[in-house]
Amino acid sequence: MPQSLVIETAVLPVKPAETLVIYAAEGAAPGGAGADLFAASGIDWARVSGASRFSGKPGEILGFPAPNGVPAERALIVLGAGKTTEAAGLSTFTDRGGSLMAKLGRAATVGIVLDGPELTPAAVAEMVAGLRLRHYRFDRYKTPKGDDSSEPSTLTLTLYVNDKPAVDKAIADRMTVVEGQLLARELINEPANVLGPVEFATRIEALRDLGVEVEILEPEQMQALGMNALLAVAQGSARPARLGIMRWQGGKPDEAPLAFIGKGVCFDTGGYSIKTAAGMEDMKGDMGGAAAVTGLLRGLAARKAPVNVVGVVGLVENMIDATAFRPGDIIKAMSGTFIEINNTDAEGRLVLADALWYVQQRFKPRLMVNLATLTGAIIVALGHDYAGLFSNDDELAAKLYAAGLATGEKLWRMPLGPAYDKLIDSRFADIKQTGGRPGGAIVAAQFLQRFVKDTPWAHLDIAGTAFGAPGTETNAGWASGFGVTLLDRLVRDNYEK
Ligand code: BES
Ligand code: MN
Ligand code: ZN
Repeated sequence: MPQSLVIETAVLPVKPAETLVIYAAEGAAPGGAGADLFAASGIDWARVSGASRFSGKPGEILGFPAPNGVPAERALIVLGAGKTTEAAGLSTFTDRGGSLMAKLGRAATVGIVLDGPELTPAAVAEMVAGLRLRHYRFDRYKTPKGDDSSEPSTLTLTLYVNDKPAVDKAIADRMTVVEGQLLARELINEPANVLGPVEFATRIEALRDLGVEVEILEPEQMQALGMNALLAVAQGSARPARLGIMRWQGGKPDEAPLAFIGKGVCFDTGGYSIKTAAGMEDMKGDMGGAAAVTGLLRGLAARKAPVNVVGVVGLVENMIDATAFRPGDIIKAMSGTFIEINNTDAEGRLVLADALWYVQQRFKPRLMVNLATLTGAIIVALGHDYAGLFSNDDELAAKLYAAGLATGEKLWRMPLGPAYDKLIDSRFADIKQTGGRPGGAIVAAQFLQRFVKDTPWAHLDIAGTAFGAPGTETNAGWASGFGVTLLDRLVRDNYEK
C-alpha cells in the first residue's frame, strides 16, 4: 500500500511527536521557536555543534535521540538552513522540503518548527510542495508484502507556523499545481500496455470534474480535418489515435487563449526505423509533453486561474505492422505541406505539426508553447538538468527562461535560423522530416517552425528532463512531471489579471 501523507499546520507550542525538526542557519544556533525547543533539552549547542562540525549548510543534519525536556519520542533533528540572509529563490524551499522528506525515515508523526524571517507563507508552501513531491512513489504494481510493518501506513507532518491562515491559503494554492505535477508523473510512469491513446484520453476526460471543457477527437474526425501527419504515426498501431482538447475559460470570454500543445506518443518503437533494444522501455514516457499539458490544465482549473487556456495533446502509438508508414512515404499534413518521411523514429514532430496547425486555425491563440520528448540530441547537448528552449519570440523566450529560474525547471535557449532550416529541404516533397545528426534538436525545432505562422511560439524539448534524469531533492523516481510548475509560473506571472 502506498503510504498516505497528511500535512497539517498548527501554532506553537509543539505537540508530542516521534520526531521534531528544527532549523539552524549557517553558522548560527537554532533560531526563533526552534531555539526555545532546543534550550529545553539542556544540551550545549555550541559544544555539540562544534564537535560534530555542523555548520548549518543545506542538507546537513544533527540528530539528538529522545532528548530530555523535549516532546520528541524518538529524536530531535536539527537541519541546516543555509544562509538565510541571502534573498533565496523560492525553489530553494522546494528543495529544502524534498531533502527533509528524504531524512524522515520511518517516522509516523513528525513536527516541524518553521519560524524565521525567511519563512514567508509562500516559502512554507514551497516546502510543502517539496515534501509532497519527494514523498511520491509509483508503486501501484508492487504487491504489498503481508508481513511488512516496517513503514507506518500514514505519515503525519505537523508544521508549526506563525501566520496559520496565510500559510494555509498559500499551501492550498500551491498544492493545486503539485497535484497537476503528480498527475503528469503518474501518466508518464504508467506502462504503455496500460496507458495507450484511448486510455490517456479517458484520464483527460476526468478533468471535467474540475470544470475543464474536454473534447476528444477520433481518427475519422482527424481524417476529415486532414491530420495525415499525426495519423501516419498511428497507422501501424492496433490502438487508434486520439486528439485531446482541454479548455479552461477562467478569463474574459472573448480573450484569446494561451495554447499549450503536447507530444503524446504513448509508446515509441521507432517504427520501421526501429530503435535498438537498449532502453526502449523508456519510450513509455514519450508522452511526457502531453502529460505536462494535462497536469498544467489540472492545476489551472483547480486553482481557478483567471485566464483562458487551451491544451491540445496528440495521442498515438508508434508501432511496426504491415499497415505502418515507411521511410520514403510522402504525407500531406493538415497545413497542406507535403512531408517526405526519412525516419519513422522522428514521429513526434509529425504529431506536433498537425496539432500546432489545428490550434492556430481553431483557437487563434495569443501564444503557443509546445512540449515534447522530441530528440535524443537535446540530451547530448544539455544533459538532464536543462530542457531546450526554442522560440520565434524573444519576449516569450525571456518569460519562459525567467519561469525556469524561479521554479528550478530550467531552460536553455537554443538557436533557430535559415542555415538549419535549409537542412530539411526535400528532393521529393515540400519538406523532409530530418536532417541527419548535426544539430538534431535544432533541426527538429526548425521542422516544427514550418508549421507555425505568426503566432508567438516556443518549443520545449524535454527529452532529457521528463524522465530518467538522476534523482533530485524533489524527485526520487523516474518521471519528473517537468513542465507543469514551470508553465503554471509562466501563466501566473505574466498573463493573469
Ligand atoms: N522519443 C524520441 C526522442 C527521445 C530519446 C526521447 C530518448 C527521450 C529519450 C524521438 O521520437 C526520437 O526517436 N527522435 C530521434 C530523431 C531522429 C530519428 C532524427 C532521435 O532523437 O534519435
Ligand atoms: Mn522516435
Ligand atoms: Zn518519440
